[in-house]
Amino acid sequence: MSDASPTASETLDPEPRSRAKHPVRLERSNGIATILIDNPPVNALSASVRQGIYIALEAAEADPRANAIVLVAAGRTFPAGADITEFGSPPQDPSLPVLCDRIEACPKPVFAALHGTVLGGGLELAMAAHYRIAAAATQLGLPEVKLGILPGAGGTQRAPRLIGVEQALAMIQSGQSLSAADAMDKGLIDALDEDPREAATALALSGMEPRPTSKNRERLKSANADLELLSAAREALPGMGGPQPAMERIIDCLEAAILLPFDVGLTRERDAFLECLASRDSLGLRHVFMAERRAAKFPELETRKAPVLQHVAIVGGGLMGAGIAIACLDAGLAVTVVEEGEAGVTGALDRIGDGVQAAVSKGRISEAQGAQALTRLTLTANMAEIAKADLVIEALPEQAELKERVLGEIGALAKPEAVIATNTSYLDVDALAKASNRPDRFVALHFFAPAQIMRLVEIGVGPGTNPDAVALAHRFAKGLGKVPVRAATTPGFIVNTILAKFRLMADALVEDGASPAQVDTTMRSFGFPLGPYQVLDRSGLEASWEMRKRRGRVEGERYVSIGDKMCELGWTGRKAGQGYYVYNEGSAPVPNADAITLIEELRAAQGITPREVSNREIRDKLLLTMVNEAAKLLEAGVAARPSDIDIAMIHGLGYPERRGGPMFDADQTTVFEIHRRIAALEAKGSSLWKTAPLLAQMASERGKFSDLN
Ligand code: 3HC
Repeated sequence: MSDASPTASETLDPEPRSRAKHPVRLERSNGIATILIDNPPVNALSASVRQGIYIALEAAEADPRANAIVLVAAGRTFPAGADITEFGSPPQDPSLPVLCDRIEACPKPVFAALHGTVLGGGLELAMAAHYRIAAAATQLGLPEVKLGILPGAGGTQRAPRLIGVEQALAMIQSGQSLSAADAMDKGLIDALDEDPREAATALALSGMEPRPTSKNRERLKSANADLELLSAAREALPGMGGPQPAMERIIDCLEAAILLPFDVGLTRERDAFLECLASRDSLGLRHVFMAERRAAKFPELETRKAPVLQHVAIVGGGLMGAGIAIACLDAGLAVTVVEEGEAGVTGALDRIGDGVQAAVSKGRISEAQGAQALTRLTLTANMAEIAKADLVIEALPEQAELKERVLGEIGALAKPEAVIATNTSYLDVDALAKASNRPDRFVALHFFAPAQIMRLVEIGVGPGTNPDAVALAHRFAKGLGKVPVRAATTPGFIVNTILAKFRLMADALVEDGASPAQVDTTMRSFGFPLGPYQVLDRSGLEASWEMRKRRGRVEGERYVSIGDKMCELGWTGRKAGQGYYVYNEGSAPVPNADAITLIEELRAAQGITPREVSNREIRDKLLLTMVNEAAKLLEAGVAARPSDIDIAMIHGLGYPERRGGPMFDADQTTVFEIHRRIAALEAKGSSLWKTAPLLAQMASERGKFSDLN
């Protein structure tokens, strides 16, 4: 190793074989040792990175020519955290906490030069350094709670010492990032500079002394106010939700930071981290993190890259069309909405205006952004204006003839390279594609209401869809910040196909003797934000009524007519003032006594004697129905992977995220056991249960859904 050249660089690899690929380099120049982390895409702190930093630090410390050390990362970001993919495997030395302690104890000053998304273990590494300099666009955060864990490399002990207990609690409990300016304000970083590496080097050259490491060793000033704050936070926990036990352990660790010596606090934190890591909630949330990214990997993207999208046209400005328009405006796109006549145009404008205003009031966008968004909006009754758009989305009411006619017009007017999309929920997409005369440039983009909020977009890909069109639809969905999931064009795609069976099962349980409110309460206590009947009341009962009418009865399958009769009576949900619940201005909805009477009459008419249905039966049957239907969708190739179904059900139907989705849940119970229960129900002779052949096959092979991902 020589310092003869202005910059000497070496790779740090305990095993020289893989020297060329090693993700950490040590560069020396003018008395400064720079440790460069280069582990794309996000410089996750995997074992080889930790080893590399450790060795580099030792080398820099031992080198008499190095007076200071700069820690910096190549590519798009300073480390965005520990390597999540390593969480399931045996730990490898050095652990991140050990590495952080080593940095903090270094007798030479260590400067962290930050850019990108400095998250989790990345921020913990930076907090252990003696100075932090960040580029203005840097985001800094401790998002571990989103994975059901807590900062496990000193974050819960160093953050309160740097920014105070209140700020540390807010940051760790919410998992939200701070902007660099905010971080500067709060004392999390020491300087802002557009070129943090150069600024860190300049500071290092100016010969600053290391910040005394004993600062962290000192006890936090035990302010009673902080302890009171934590005790209030503990009391608020039951109403907060969030993963267990992480939410509680975060408070424990901050309390330890106040009451206990630093080293003891670190030990407490480590124990809590390991406990959270092994928890069911963390297992589920980590699965969701990976599953979401896996779902976004469409095969078409391996060979195709879509051009940047500028302009979107939406035909139909009803609730769904307006919601999609708002999502597009939020994402900075130019939007043309086509409606019929003056009344149609005015109605759409009002809906979109209200939606943008709501986004401003909720703080999703600033007032200026809201005003700016509306300048990108054109409302028109002239269909010819869609000719400018790169993507035309049909968002008309769910009527096949209407959609087919308008899609024919769209096909004739859109520019040749445009992609045409339908937002149908249940209609035959291949017939709609044909009606557009451009089946190769046709996809389904199935949004969920309210489209500006709900994150799922099912992208329905037909047999004749060109990969370029799929790539463009994917880019569009990602650009809106949505989670795209690929599906075949089977009517109902993934979510609504499962939902239809789920609702039928819920109705059957109600017909047998449960009440709609009991079903709702049971599913909420499982973790759904709303029960199935609350959802129906919110969205209106008409859509599923229409769907049932279109499909007709399935020969030999039980049919429950409660929803049909309610629609006939006009009890279609919240908008009508009553559905399964009664809605009165200013008071909470209550179960609809008339609906209960109707249900009793319908039971009597069919000779059904109501029986006691337990909450457990409700939960088990509804969850088993989901898995059984999902297995059929996998078998039919409607969904590509079990984990795609998990993501679709979480973001489309509100399946509790910390459970990881129905397929992940099924794996935890074992497919063998799930199959045994479903087969037992089928054996009782109910027409509602037909075991998916895939389940039977997997059970006989002791298979797991995760093996099919
Ligand atoms: N570990 C392993 N892989 C990671 C990762 C991590 N911490 N963070 C991101 N990746 C991977 C993703 O899986 C993805 O892989 P792929 O290309 O194969 O699909 C790739 O990096 C790019 O990620 P995104 O698609 O998410 O890219 P974006 O640009 O949209 O977002 C990001 C980048 C903001 C860094 C986002 O990936 C993110 O939020 N990552 C997680 C950050 C996090 O949770 N950090 C804390 C980890 S836990 C921890 O540090 C414990 C410690 O306290 C001990």
